[in-house]
Amino acid sequence: SSNLAPDYTLRPLQLSDYKAGCLDVLRDLTTVGDITEERFTEQVEYMRARQGEYFVIVIEKIATGKVVGIGTLLVERKFIHECGLVGHIEDIAVAKSEQGKKLGIKIIGALDFIGKKTGCYKNILDCSPHNEQFYVKCGYSNAGFEMTKRF
Ligand code: ACO
Repeated sequence: SSNLAPDYTLRPLQLSDYKAGCLDVLRDLTTVGDITEERFTEQVEYMRARQGEYFVIVIEKIATGKVVGIGTLLVERKFIHECGLVGHIEDIAVAKSEQGKKLGIKIIGALDFIGKKTGCYKNILDCSPHNEQFYVKCGYSNAGFEMTKRF
């Protein structure tokens, strides 16, 4: 993508990203668990079959071939707003050693671009208060609060 430092590439998730450490990047965000390559492949294939719904992008560090950033846009179809589409930004993470290099802002910029291109009238996300300023720098504003029920 434009303006990304030349030692990184931003692209859609691919099956080989299992071995390139994409799940380890997510482990900095939350619990991932033990996912076999087979289970990972099944999940990616499910997402691919749902065309236009799941967009998972990664940032690869070219020198190492490792995934150092990841993010998802899930496109929801609604009845309201004339059967409008809303983009949900989910599971954003940059590897600890690569944080603070504007990779996070690139991931959000790319997911915003995809949201616009697919016809979403907005993108939304939930985050903890300590990440609020990151999203403000990405052009987002606080529009309420998150409610959760755990099952
Ligand atoms: N608080 C305040 N400012 C921040 C924060 C923060 N927590 N994180 C980044 N910023 C600022 C940066 O200083 C930078 O400011 P500048 O442009 O003035 O220099 C700007 O935001 C852009 O920062 P990036 O370098 O692009 O951020 P980074 O690549 O480090 O990624 C991220 C930010 C994704 C939050 C990263 O720190 C991370 O992976 N954290 C752990 C996992 C996590 O919390 N993910 C988000 C969960 S919410 C969700 O998934 C919807």
